[in-house]
Amino acid sequence: MCGIVAYAGVRAATPILLQGLRKLEYRGYDSAGIAVHSEDGIKIYKQEGKVANLVDSLGDYQGDPKHSESHVGIAHTRWATHGPPTTKNAHPHPAGNGRIALVHNGIIENYRGLKAKLEAEGRVFLSDTDSEVLAHLVDYHYDGDLALALTKALKEVDGTYGVACMSEEEPGKLVVARRGSPIVIGLGDGETIVASDASAIISHTRQAIYLDDNDIAVIQGGKVDVKTLDASPVQRDIADIDWSADAAEKGGYEHYMLKEIFEQPEAIRNATRGRIDADQGTAVLSGLALSPRELVDFHRLLIVGCGTSLNAGLVGEYAVEDFAAMLGEVEQAAEFRYRNPIVGSKDLVVAISQSGETADTLAAVREAINKGAMVAGLVNVVGSTIAREAGRGIYLHAGPEISVASTKAFTCQVSVLLSIALKLARGRRMSLEEGQRIANEILRVPDLVQQVLEKNDEIAKVAENFVKFDNMFYIGRGYMFPVALEGALKIKEISYIHAEAYNAAELKHGPIALLEENMPVVALMNKGPGKEKTVGNVEECRARKAPVLGVITEGDDEAREACDWVIEIPECPHYTATIVATTALQLFSYHVARLRGCPIDQPRNLAKSVTVE
Ligand code: F6R
Repeated sequence: MCGIVAYAGVRAATPILLQGLRKLEYRGYDSAGIAVHSEDGIKIYKQEGKVANLVDSLGDYQGDPKHSESHVGIAHTRWATHGPPTTKNAHPHPAGNGRIALVHNGIIENYRGLKAKLEAEGRVFLSDTDSEVLAHLVDYHYDGDLALALTKALKEVDGTYGVACMSEEEPGKLVVARRGSPIVIGLGDGETIVASDASAIISHTRQAIYLDDNDIAVIQGGKVDVKTLDASPVQRDIADIDWSADAAEKGGYEHYMLKEIFEQPEAIRNATRGRIDADQGTAVLSGLALSPRELVDFHRLLIVGCGTSLNAGLVGEYAVEDFAAMLGEVEQAAEFRYRNPIVGSKDLVVAISQSGETADTLAAVREAINKGAMVAGLVNVVGSTIAREAGRGIYLHAGPEISVASTKAFTCQVSVLLSIALKLARGRRMSLEEGQRIANEILRVPDLVQQVLEKNDEIAKVAENFVKFDNMFYIGRGYMFPVALEGALKIKEISYIHAEAYNAAELKHGPIALLEENMPVVALMNKGPGKEKTVGNVEECRARKAPVLGVITEGDDEAREACDWVIEIPECPHYTATIVATTALQLFSYHVARLRGCPIDQPRNLAKSVTVE
């Protein structure tokens, strides 16, 4: 949510900042801006809309060596929170007649009071943002030492920040800090590249420092000096970023989303590699760092997450109950944190997050830790806040997910959740034979997903029939209900078709009133428990003239006959069909959105990592 890039070093800053902004654009694309030191002081350029608009607006500037040869600068791509997405609200924000420039991610909760105080002293604000207050506060405290001024300013603010700033009086220097919004410092040869996440850094260096909350770092060329806000020097580890630069490129696909859908067989292999022991019919999850005794002692597996991660969590709940006969519960992270949940030392809490930065999930992690629960992260982004605060957990190893709509993270999350459920089950009542059967089914998943990907053209043809609709229903039972939820979420976020998901049995308790010829239904009716009943529900839909797309098991003629269109998936148990059927629905959503001409990788109003509550 919002992206920061900053550069100090030997090369020209502007191209590096603009390249970094393009990489981070998925974090927000309401406006973009850069500030660089030039011979004439700090120059700020900003523009509403996407980074391309900023680049176009730079025009002559880009060829002017006076500015473009600058070796220090900060940049920002915005997801609007306070104030509409206009040029005036774009970052960087200047203060002190332009002697300070600052970019900020996060929210300054007490900005109104601070702004009133600063205005009473005669300061004039140029934007509606909370972030501008921070720029003025830095200027207010500035007396030739930018790090000290930022430290004093940050002590006055409540809320969250990832921040980068510079001063005209200290050319060559950047000061960055974090609380609640990530800051990664890439260490190059005589240069430093700062960003909100590693994707903007990996084409320059693999060595990085992840700032902790309340860290502040002073950067000059390749020199980085980290302190805490109370001025104690600290040594942060240097991490190796193991994502390749190519992994964050489109690699010939029209959209990141399509690339990421097609990466799923490999991503799932990576997520399960070394974690499934088919001989012993169990999973090896060393990241949980729990002894067999501890695993048996838990009374409940409580899963928290948001959006797609929440939908994956629901599959986890079903699997834990199904495999381990253990209480499983999934909770929307924001609800969990705000309603004083009953949770304690008998609970294993699994926090699921692709980005590892989602504010509500992070707050749920903190709440669960405070209440004495054992917490584990199920996270994709290595070194992210949730991964670090949970202290234990399992990385997905799905590789960078750039498209705003989550795809491979979901299928990897479900694969790992099935592994966790298997592990818990084998520590309880599940037999070796049953464990082996499930372990082998999990190992089959990448090949099954590959078979679905091979139907891409067929699915694209089916999608043509849905371009005209404004509303849709998705239905499924049992394990296929979370798949319906995820299918409906995907189609609405990227194609802007309104879609609702129901347990198929629930349809007749109200929603059926909406069925008519313009309300198509996507029915998860692949073979497994409840399939016959879902076929019956589909008949009820068609009796009301609602057209039906069935996701069915290959060769299931009975199911085929009940539908107007079908997508066939290979036969597999319902628990792994969650992954296989979801892949089919991802492709379906993708093609509907493509045919409707939607901006697939960057749907309106969204951002990749949601660091506000
Ligand atoms: C949907 C989507 C969102 C995220 C949600 C949680 O495609 O991407 O619903 O799943 O914002 O994000 P993470 O998993 O990063 O915590």
